[in-house]
Amino acid sequence: MNNVTIINHPLISHKVALLRSKSTNTKQFRELVEEISVLLTYEAFKDIPTVSVSVETPLETAVQQTIAENSVAIVPILRAGLGMVNGVHTLFPTAKVGHIGMYRDEETCTPREYYCKLPQGIENKICIVLDPMLATGGSAIAAVDILKQKGAKSIKCMHIIAAPEGIKALHQAHPDVQIYCAVQDRQLNGDNYILPGLGDAGDRLFGTK
Ligand code: PRP
Ligand code: URA
Repeated sequence: MNNVTIINHPLISHKVALLRSKSTNTKQFRELVEEISVLLTYEAFKDIPTVSVSVETPLETAVQQTIAENSVAIVPILRAGLGMVNGVHTLFPTAKVGHIGMYRDEETCTPREYYCKLPQGIENKICIVLDPMLATGGSAIAAVDILKQKGAKSIKCMHIIAAPEGIKALHQAHPDVQIYCAVQDRQLNGDNYILPGLGDAGDRLFGTK
Protein backbone atom coordinates (compact mmCIF):
# COMPACT_ATOMS: atom_id res chain seq x y z
CA MET A 1 0.00 0.00 0.00
CA ASN A 2 1.32 3.42 -0.97
CA ASN A 3 1.99 5.70 2.00
CA VAL A 4 2.03 2.85 4.53
CA THR A 5 5.34 1.98 6.20
CA ILE A 6 5.74 -0.86 8.68
CA ILE A 7 9.15 -0.20 10.17
CA ASN A 8 10.06 -3.73 11.40
CA HIS A 9 13.50 -2.64 12.63
CA PRO A 10 15.28 -4.97 15.09
CA LEU A 11 15.85 -2.15 17.61
CA ILE A 12 12.17 -1.25 17.55
CA SER A 13 11.03 -4.86 17.51
CA HIS A 14 13.06 -5.59 20.66
CA LYS A 15 11.42 -2.70 22.51
CA VAL A 16 7.95 -3.68 21.26
CA ALA A 17 8.48 -7.17 22.72
CA LEU A 18 9.16 -5.60 26.12
CA LEU A 19 6.19 -3.25 25.71
CA ARG A 20 3.79 -6.12 25.02
CA SER A 21 4.78 -8.14 28.07
CA LYS A 22 2.17 -8.18 30.82
CA SER A 23 5.01 -8.05 33.35
CA THR A 24 6.19 -4.64 32.08
CA ASN A 25 5.19 -2.06 34.69
CA THR A 26 3.86 1.47 34.15
CA LYS A 27 7.25 3.19 34.47
CA GLN A 28 8.91 0.79 32.02
CA PHE A 29 5.92 1.03 29.66
CA ARG A 30 6.12 4.83 29.61
CA GLU A 31 9.88 4.76 28.95
CA LEU A 32 9.53 2.22 26.16
CA VAL A 33 6.75 4.17 24.42
CA GLU A 34 8.99 7.24 24.49
CA GLU A 35 12.07 5.37 23.20
CA ILE A 36 10.11 3.71 20.39
CA SER A 37 8.66 7.09 19.44
CA VAL A 38 12.14 8.57 18.97
CA LEU A 39 13.03 5.74 16.61
CA LEU A 40 9.75 6.03 14.69
CA THR A 41 10.20 9.78 14.34
CA TYR A 42 13.67 9.28 12.86
CA GLU A 43 12.13 7.06 10.19
CA ALA A 44 8.95 9.06 9.59
CA PHE A 45 10.82 12.30 8.87
CA LYS A 46 13.31 10.94 6.37
CA ASP A 47 11.52 13.01 3.72
CA ILE A 48 11.21 16.31 5.63
CA PRO A 49 12.07 19.30 3.43
CA THR A 50 15.45 20.84 4.17
CA VAL A 51 17.13 24.17 3.56
CA SER A 52 20.73 24.61 2.66
CA VAL A 53 22.93 26.62 5.06
CA SER A 54 26.59 27.54 5.08
CA VAL A 55 28.52 26.73 8.26
CA GLU A 56 32.05 27.83 9.09
CA THR A 57 33.97 24.82 10.36
CA PRO A 58 37.43 25.33 11.88
CA LEU A 59 38.83 24.47 8.44
CA GLU A 60 36.49 25.85 5.77
CA THR A 61 32.86 26.51 4.80
CA ALA A 62 30.49 23.54 4.77
CA VAL A 63 27.16 23.57 2.96
CA GLN A 64 24.71 21.53 5.01
CA GLN A 65 21.00 20.65 4.83
CA THR A 66 18.95 21.73 7.88
CA ILE A 67 15.30 21.64 8.90
CA ALA A 68 13.34 24.90 8.99
CA GLU A 69 12.19 26.08 12.47
CA ASN A 70 8.56 25.44 13.32
CA SER A 71 7.92 23.09 10.41
CA VAL A 72 6.33 20.35 12.54
CA ALA A 73 3.26 20.22 14.80
CA ILE A 74 2.85 17.28 17.18
CA VAL A 75 -0.76 16.10 17.58
CA PRO A 76 -1.29 13.35 20.18
CA ILE A 77 -4.69 11.66 20.42
CA LEU A 78 -5.59 11.62 24.13
CA ARG A 79 -4.90 9.78 26.23
CA ALA A 80 -2.39 7.26 24.98
CA GLY A 81 -0.86 9.49 22.30
CA LEU A 82 0.51 11.68 25.09
CA GLY A 83 3.07 8.99 25.85
CA MET A 84 4.67 9.51 22.45
CA VAL A 85 5.06 13.31 22.65
CA ASN A 86 8.40 13.40 24.50
CA GLY A 87 9.88 11.02 21.96
CA VAL A 88 9.02 13.35 19.08
CA HIS A 89 10.18 16.36 21.11
CA THR A 90 13.58 14.69 21.52
CA LEU A 91 14.11 15.22 17.78
CA PHE A 92 11.93 18.34 17.30
CA PRO A 93 12.41 20.18 20.60
CA THR A 94 10.62 23.37 19.60
CA ALA A 95 7.60 21.75 17.93
CA LYS A 96 4.23 23.04 19.13
CA VAL A 97 1.72 20.50 20.41
CA GLY A 98 -1.99 20.27 19.58
CA HIS A 99 -4.26 17.92 21.54
CA ILE A 100 -7.21 15.95 20.22
CA GLY A 101 -9.29 14.27 22.90
CA MET A 102 -10.95 11.10 21.69
CA TYR A 103 -12.21 7.94 23.34
CA ARG A 104 -13.82 4.84 21.88
CA ASP A 105 -17.44 4.35 22.87
CA GLU A 106 -17.42 1.05 24.78
CA GLU A 107 -20.56 -0.25 23.04
CA THR A 108 -19.95 0.77 19.45
CA CYS A 109 -16.14 1.26 19.43
CA THR A 110 -16.69 4.45 17.45
CA PRO A 111 -14.64 7.50 18.44
CA ARG A 112 -16.11 10.32 20.52
CA GLU A 113 -14.31 13.66 20.37
CA TYR A 114 -14.20 15.60 23.66
CA TYR A 115 -11.36 18.10 23.19
CA CYS A 116 -9.45 19.87 20.47
CA LYS A 117 -6.84 22.58 20.81
CA LEU A 118 -4.36 23.06 17.98
CA PRO A 119 -1.43 25.43 17.51
CA GLN A 120 -1.77 28.31 15.07
CA GLY A 121 -0.54 27.91 11.52
CA ILE A 122 -1.04 24.16 11.13
CA GLU A 123 -1.76 24.75 7.45
CA ASN A 124 1.95 25.44 6.96
CA LYS A 125 3.29 22.62 9.15
CA ILE A 126 3.70 18.87 8.89
CA CYS A 127 1.24 17.51 11.46
CA ILE A 128 2.31 14.26 13.08
CA VAL A 129 -0.65 12.46 14.67
CA LEU A 130 0.37 10.19 17.55
CA ASP A 131 -1.44 7.17 18.93
CA PRO A 132 0.29 3.96 19.98
CA MET A 133 -2.67 1.82 18.89
CA LEU A 134 -4.33 1.72 15.45
CA ALA A 135 -7.18 -0.77 15.96
CA THR A 136 -10.29 -0.18 13.82
CA GLY A 137 -8.72 3.08 12.67
CA GLY A 138 -11.77 5.09 13.76
CA SER A 139 -9.88 7.37 16.15
CA ALA A 140 -7.06 8.15 13.73
CA ILE A 141 -9.50 8.75 10.86
CA ALA A 142 -11.52 11.17 13.00
CA ALA A 143 -8.34 12.97 14.15
CA VAL A 144 -7.19 13.42 10.56
CA ASP A 145 -10.71 14.62 9.60
CA ILE A 146 -10.43 17.31 12.29
CA LEU A 147 -6.95 18.38 11.19
CA LYS A 148 -8.06 18.67 7.57
CA GLN A 149 -11.15 20.68 8.58
CA LYS A 150 -8.81 23.05 10.45
CA GLY A 151 -6.67 23.49 7.34
CA ALA A 152 -3.81 20.99 7.73
CA LYS A 153 -2.40 19.96 4.36
CA SER A 154 0.47 17.70 5.29
CA ILE A 155 -0.30 14.94 7.78
CA LYS A 156 1.56 11.86 9.00
CA CYS A 157 0.20 9.26 11.44
CA MET A 158 2.53 7.39 13.76
CA HIS A 159 1.53 4.23 15.63
CA ILE A 160 3.37 1.54 17.54
CA ILE A 161 1.02 -1.43 17.03
CA ALA A 162 -1.42 -1.54 14.13
CA ALA A 163 -4.11 -4.03 13.13
CA PRO A 164 -4.45 -4.77 9.40
CA GLU A 165 -8.07 -3.58 9.64
CA GLY A 166 -6.99 -0.18 10.98
CA ILE A 167 -4.25 0.34 8.44
CA LYS A 168 -6.66 -0.46 5.60
CA ALA A 169 -9.41 1.81 6.95
CA LEU A 170 -7.10 4.77 7.61
CA HIS A 171 -5.42 4.43 4.24
CA GLN A 172 -8.79 4.19 2.44
CA ALA A 173 -10.22 7.21 4.27
CA HIS A 174 -7.08 9.33 3.86
CA PRO A 175 -4.84 7.97 1.08
CA ASP A 176 -2.74 11.16 1.12
CA VAL A 177 -1.70 10.61 4.76
CA GLN A 178 1.60 8.84 5.39
CA ILE A 179 1.16 6.07 7.95
CA TYR A 180 4.11 4.77 10.00
CA CYS A 181 3.73 1.75 12.28
CA ALA A 182 6.38 -0.01 14.33
CA VAL A 183 4.70 -3.40 13.82
CA GLN A 184 1.60 -4.85 12.21
CA ASP A 185 -0.32 -7.37 14.32
CA ARG A 186 -2.56 -10.26 13.30
CA GLN A 187 -6.15 -9.08 13.79
CA LEU A 188 -8.78 -7.49 16.00
CA ASN A 189 -10.75 -9.56 18.51
CA GLY A 190 -14.52 -9.37 19.00
CA ASP A 191 -14.11 -6.30 21.23
CA ASN A 192 -11.89 -4.58 18.65
CA TYR A 193 -8.73 -5.06 20.69
CA ILE A 194 -5.57 -5.82 18.77
CA LEU A 195 -4.23 -9.41 18.87
CA PRO A 196 -1.67 -10.16 20.15
CA GLY A 197 -1.37 -6.43 20.96
CA LEU A 198 -0.50 -5.12 24.40
CA GLY A 199 -3.91 -4.58 25.99
CA ASP A 200 -5.24 -1.09 26.68
CA ALA A 201 -2.45 1.38 25.95
CA GLY A 202 -3.98 4.27 27.93
CA ASP A 203 -4.45 2.13 31.03
CA ARG A 204 -0.94 0.69 30.84
CA LEU A 205 0.61 4.11 30.29
CA PHE A 206 -1.20 5.86 33.11
CA GLY A 207 -1.69 2.96 35.53
CA THR A 208 -5.48 3.11 35.44
CA LYS A 209 -7.37 -0.19 35.92
C1 PRP B 1 -7.42 3.68 22.34
C2 PRP B 1 -6.14 4.04 21.61
C3 PRP B 1 -6.66 4.71 20.37
C4 PRP B 1 -7.92 3.94 20.08
C5 PRP B 1 -7.64 2.99 18.96
O1 PRP B 1 -7.92 4.76 23.00
O2 PRP B 1 -5.27 4.82 22.35
O3 PRP B 1 -6.94 6.08 20.56
O4 PRP B 1 -8.26 3.23 21.27
O5 PRP B 1 -8.78 2.34 18.57
P1 PRP B 1 -9.47 2.57 17.14
O6 PRP B 1 -8.39 2.49 16.12
O7 PRP B 1 -10.44 1.41 17.07
O8 PRP B 1 -10.18 3.88 17.16
P2 PRP B 1 -9.21 4.70 23.93
O9 PRP B 1 -10.44 4.93 23.12
O10 PRP B 1 -9.18 3.44 24.74
O11 PRP B 1 -9.06 5.98 24.85
P3 PRP B 1 -7.96 6.32 25.96
O12 PRP B 1 -6.65 6.56 25.23
O13 PRP B 1 -8.47 7.54 26.60
O14 PRP B 1 -7.85 5.14 26.89
N1 URA C 1 -6.98 0.49 22.06
C1 URA C 1 -6.04 -0.07 22.85
O1 URA C 1 -5.51 0.58 23.78
N2 URA C 1 -5.69 -1.34 22.62
C2 URA C 1 -6.23 -2.07 21.64
O2 URA C 1 -5.86 -3.25 21.47
C3 URA C 1 -7.22 -1.47 20.83
C4 URA C 1 -7.57 -0.18 21.06
